[in-house]
Amino acid sequence: MVILFVFNFIRRAWNAPVSQTDLERGLKQLGLNGQTPLIVHSSLSSLGNMSGGANSVLHALERFSSTLVMPAFTYYTLVWPTQYRNADWPATVSEDGPPFRADSPVSRDIGRIPQMMLERSGALRSMHPALSFVASGKDARMVLGVQTLEHPYAPIGVLEAMDGLVLLLGVDHRSNTSVHYGEYLAGRPQLERWANTQQGVVRTYYPNCSAAFNAIEGSLQTLKTVEIGKAILQVARVSDVVAATKRLIANHPEALLCSYPGCRCQNIRAKIRQDGIHPRRDLRLEEWLGERRIVEEGSTRQEENPTWRVAKSQ
Ligand SMILES: CC(C)(COP(=O)(O)OP(=O)(O)OC[C@H]1O[C@@H](n2cnc3c(N)ncnc32)[C@H](O)[C@@H]1OP(=O)(O)O)[C@@H](O)C(=O)NCCC(=O)NCCS
Ligand SMILES: [Zn+2]
Repeated sequence: MVILFVFNFIRRAWNAPVSQTDLERGLKQLGLNGQTPLIVHSSLSSLGNMSGGANSVLHALERFSSTLVMPAFTYYTLVWPTQYRNADWPATVSEDGPPFRADSPVSRDIGRIPQMMLERSGALRSMHPALSFVASGKDARMVLGVQTLEHPYAPIGVLEAMDGLVLLLGVDHRSNTSVHYGEYLAGRPQLERWANTQQGVVRTYYPNCSAAFNAIEGSLQTLKTVEIGKAILQVARVSDVVAATKRLIANHPEALLCSYPGCRCQNIRAKIRQDGIHPRRDLRLEEWLGERRIVEEGSTRQEENPTWRVAKSQ
């Protein structure tokens, strides 16, 4: 552990430091101006040697977005209750596991930057036990408030409606969650999953994996790229990502599914071959847009969906 820490420290020191100002310059080049909501998927180490670490990345991202959203997924809350076992449920998932809490750490493969965002004051987290998002800024509550167990990616619909942007910071489209929202609208079958909460095990829905999502790149019309330090940063409009996903799936219903034999993508593929695909309307978003109209017309109706102000660990 200590050796790994020392190794990482030396490796980092080998790279020229990247400052918050460098990062902000890159964000500006990508066309960000602080007026637009932004969802970010990130790798801190991709920057090589970021001065101030995850905290200064977040400062830069918050300055260049009106609302900042990141996934705060907690895959380890997924459980496999014996009575609900499905053939597509991986054998490695246990029957019991830790329940989701407002301060549950994000999974390691989601990253240190969203974890840092959770630990900073002022961030909100949605309530989904496995696929929560963390957000800060002007419309954080609104973006998070639409999420339900049945529709975990609903926050992306709000970002799309607000003409938000997606930023891939040192990662590629395999981390681009907005593709999953496009899949939902395109009518891709979803898999049942179960997750542990403090109130007990609940049912939710889960998509195919994202290993083949890089195939979307050539279909995007708004993609811009910049290099900062050692990292490639890419930005696109959420609406572009969603539209490209829908187009690809409309043309080839199995587009963007991986071909690994043991992957749940093969169960989705089988369902498509059996039942076809049936495009969906986002009723949650339509409801939200309707509620918003009422609020804009002067109603004092409160939001019904819970979001949690992040409670710090003791
Ligand atoms: C998996 C993933 C997070 C790994 O990226 P990573 O850069 O290795 O990991 P993190 O972003 O958590 O950053 C931690 C690493 O940054 C490095 N680091 C720490 N401080 C640093 C600094 N100041 N400057 C540069 N690197 C630093 C460390 O090496 C650390 O690794 P360690 O935990 O082994 O010590 C990334 O590849 C990824 O996929 N991110 C997107 C996830 C996502 O949004 N998915 C959506 C669901 S599909
Ligand atoms: Zn797969």
